[in-house]
Amino acid sequence: MSGMRHALANESWKSLLPDSSLWLNKLQLAAAAQLPQTAHAVVGVQAKDDDKANYSINARDLDKSTQDQLSSQAKALGWLPAAGPLHLQLGGRNYSLVPLPTSKVNVVQLARQFGLDAARATKELRLAHLAVFVPESYSGADVFDGLASGFYGHLGFKGTRKRDLEKLPGAVTIIDSALVPQALKSAHAHARAAALVRFLQDAPPNYLDPVKFAEIANELAKDAGFNCQILDKAAMTALGMGSFLSVSDGSVTEPRLITIEIPGIDNSRSIALVGKGLTFDAGGVSIKAAVGMEEMKYDMSGGAAVLGAVEYFRHHQPPCKVICAIGATENLISGGATRPGDIVRAFNGKTIEIHNTDAEGRLVLADVLAYVIKEHKPELVVDIATLTGAVLMALGSVGAALFSNDQAAADFVLGCGKAAGEPLWQLPLWGEFEKETRGDVADLKNIAKASVKAGSIMGAMFIKEFVGDTKWVHLDIAGTGWNCQAVGFPSAGGSSFGLRTLTTIAMRYQR
Ligand code: BES
Ligand code: ZN
Ligand code: ZN
Repeated sequence: MSGMRHALANESWKSLLPDSSLWLNKLQLAAAAQLPQTAHAVVGVQAKDDDKANYSINARDLDKSTQDQLSSQAKALGWLPAAGPLHLQLGGRNYSLVPLPTSKVNVVQLARQFGLDAARATKELRLAHLAVFVPESYSGADVFDGLASGFYGHLGFKGTRKRDLEKLPGAVTIIDSALVPQALKSAHAHARAAALVRFLQDAPPNYLDPVKFAEIANELAKDAGFNCQILDKAAMTALGMGSFLSVSDGSVTEPRLITIEIPGIDNSRSIALVGKGLTFDAGGVSIKAAVGMEEMKYDMSGGAAVLGAVEYFRHHQPPCKVICAIGATENLISGGATRPGDIVRAFNGKTIEIHNTDAEGRLVLADVLAYVIKEHKPELVVDIATLTGAVLMALGSVGAALFSNDQAAADFVLGCGKAAGEPLWQLPLWGEFEKETRGDVADLKNIAKASVKAGSIMGAMFIKEFVGDTKWVHLDIAGTGWNCQAVGFPSAGGSSFGLRTLTTIAMRYQR
């Protein structure tokens, strides 16, 4: 079993969770139409595009006279939004003026960014009760989601760690007369789930190894009353998952295939969410360069987003059954590691020449997807993976690439991404690329010849060979999973990108 190799590995994951996870569990969260007596208020400030010195308060439920008094006080001080937040007093109350984001992006992202900035502006004040005036056109639910992510801090692995929940506000009031209670409840669940996702992402790979990943998933599922199946190496060997197993051959820590079944309101229909869970990707024999290799602990970001969705479903039952699966393994090097040139047989019987052991995510997903489709027969399967460095060339760190074998399914998921404030951009699966997946002596090879380029498309073309006729959408989050540069996401470390798209897919899935 995991964990006996280092002291760190013996610490329970719950004791390592960020303070914000515990805080979210006991937080008094409310919506209101006016400012509670003793609360410290955050108010958004909108600067005019062409004239940065010309600004005004933007708060749906703050009376005009208070707005005017706050902005004249700020102007009298010579304050400009570009200088960052301003703390003021008016009528015996405390206010923080927080500049609103000005980028031309989706309003959901803007609202989350404002929440993030509000948390940063007030973090050091040790407030007992924080109230946030929601700007016009923003949803208070999205503002809260951002606020919670601004309070995330991963101190869990600091030797000097001492829990300090008092620094986070025990009560938060979202002042938004348009806010529906169900939407705030959903944002609270997203905030909890995102904290878990980011914790998993940020955890070091000697702690969060495949066995630990499975333990955490199992405990989470059991706590929620969801059925959880964990396949170990012996079980996967018996099932013939040679593709997945070839990735883990260089590692002393066993792989795990995690499947959690979420019962829906109507269980006659189901969808599947499948995540790449590489707890570390050294590249294998096709070893990666040393510089930045530590970042490859984030190669489980797709799996983390899937487990985050499970956490969300504890609080919100989806309309249909949702199968959540994670292929967890490391990709390391040893005398037992897979060689370039090796041929393996996948779960579905196809053979694969491994030309590059660093193109391992597709080898793992191939078997997990084929297995989930055979076992559970979902109507739609969505996989999420930090699959290719090439997606950074295409879309940078602002959006994820989307691929699908069914345009209606693609459109559906694109709509979910939009509603979730997670930028997605569709790339094609052109027929010309199909021959480039074919092997020289085996059915397939895991990378195309160098002249083909189109790295992200080729990753998706390979995976497509394992989903048959099932409607399938693939999300490549290699650019956005960490150090995400999309507005409304934490810009350093794990981002939890994809979580909200996955939950939205499930909650909206009605066929
Ligand atoms: N985990 C990487 C993809 C990745 C790269 C994620 C950079 C985040 C940042 C994946 O397993 C990989 O190594 N892909 C190779 C594929 C290549 C060998 C065809 C890549 O993108 O270089
Ligand atoms: Zn790799
Ligand atoms: Zn990888």
